[in-house]
Amino acid sequence: MARRVARSASPQVERGPAPKARTSRPATQSPGRSRLESHLRSLSKLQAHVRVEAEIGSGNCSVVLLGKDRSGQEVAVKAISLKAAKTLGTDEQRIWGEVQVMREVQHPNLAHLLDVMASWEPLPLVKAEPPFLCIIMEYLAHAEALSKRIREASLGPVERIVLQLASALARLHRSDIVHRDVWAENILIDRQDKVTLLDFGCAERLQKPATNNKLNLPYMSPESAAGRPHDVGDDAWALGLLITEMVTGRFMADRLGRVDMSGAEVPSRNILVAPNPFLHLHTPVALICHKLLQLRRQSV
Ligand SMILES: Nc1ncnc2c1ncn2[C@@H]1O[C@H](COP(=O)(O)OP(=O)(O)OP(=O)(O)O)[C@@H](O)[C@H]1O
Ligand SMILES: [Mg+2]
Repeated sequence: MARRVARSASPQVERGPAPKARTSRPATQSPGRSRLESHLRSLSKLQAHVRVEAEIGSGNCSVVLLGKDRSGQEVAVKAISLKAAKTLGTDEQRIWGEVQVMREVQHPNLAHLLDVMASWEPLPLVKAEPPFLCIIMEYLAHAEALSKRIREASLGPVERIVLQLASALARLHRSDIVHRDVWAENILIDRQDKVTLLDFGCAERLQKPATNNKLNLPYMSPESAAGRPHDVGDDAWALGLLITEMVTGRFMADRLGRVDMSGAEVPSRNILVAPNPFLHLHTPVALICHKLLQLRRQSV
């Protein structure tokens, strides 16, 4: 699903060295080929291993597909078009960085990487041009976006969801990684209320220059808006907003009066279907959220 993104106030950063591929064969760079393209040449070809069956979701430069591997197992394939990414000015380091984060960090509440492949041919159901970097993940069948549950006011206990998300984020943070794209579209929840955090496309390493200057505006932390380096607090801010959404059923970001985002109006979004479905929970969190709901155009 396309999301609202905006350039953060962060200054353009120097590009660091391209990440090392952890492929079985070393990628040698040929003249005229980008380093990422050279990495791609060392990967197995998607078509030899996976049959594409349907589209599951799409973003700015990627499409997520449902496929079946040779054993018949369902897999999710996030196909990132290098050409589309280049057109959008996406840093190649960021694209490969998504793979590296998934390789590095495993946790029951983080999307599980199965393999990384390449496609040099057009992909069924995908308009963008090849080549594609294909991230093969465990397919989360019977799971739906957290946003859908909030919209339908069909969430289970919020505390259980928050604990799983906090645990997943703590795992990332322990590896000095900040997710930077925590919001209800990047979280899937299954019938047993098991939560999975997806989409490491905006993830950054602590103490390293940022590879991405486009962030999901409504969830951007005040520190990011002020151009400060990314930090774990960026995820904490987004999680806090998400908690208010879960507890109140309302989109909160447009109520915070973000005077720190000069020239960038935080778009409003109506996610509530039932009136205040969760406010009957008289927990401290619900009370804080209730107060937040009363905020009108004040500075944060
Ligand atoms: N492993 C998975 N199993 C089931 N559905 C998935 C899986 N991974 C992604 N999806 C679906 O595809 C959608 C898009 O995935 P994701 O958020 O990773 O990509 P994106 O937002 O298009 O990426 P980007 O912002 O990096 O361009 C998700 O919101 C989810 O609905
Ligand atoms: Mg996403």
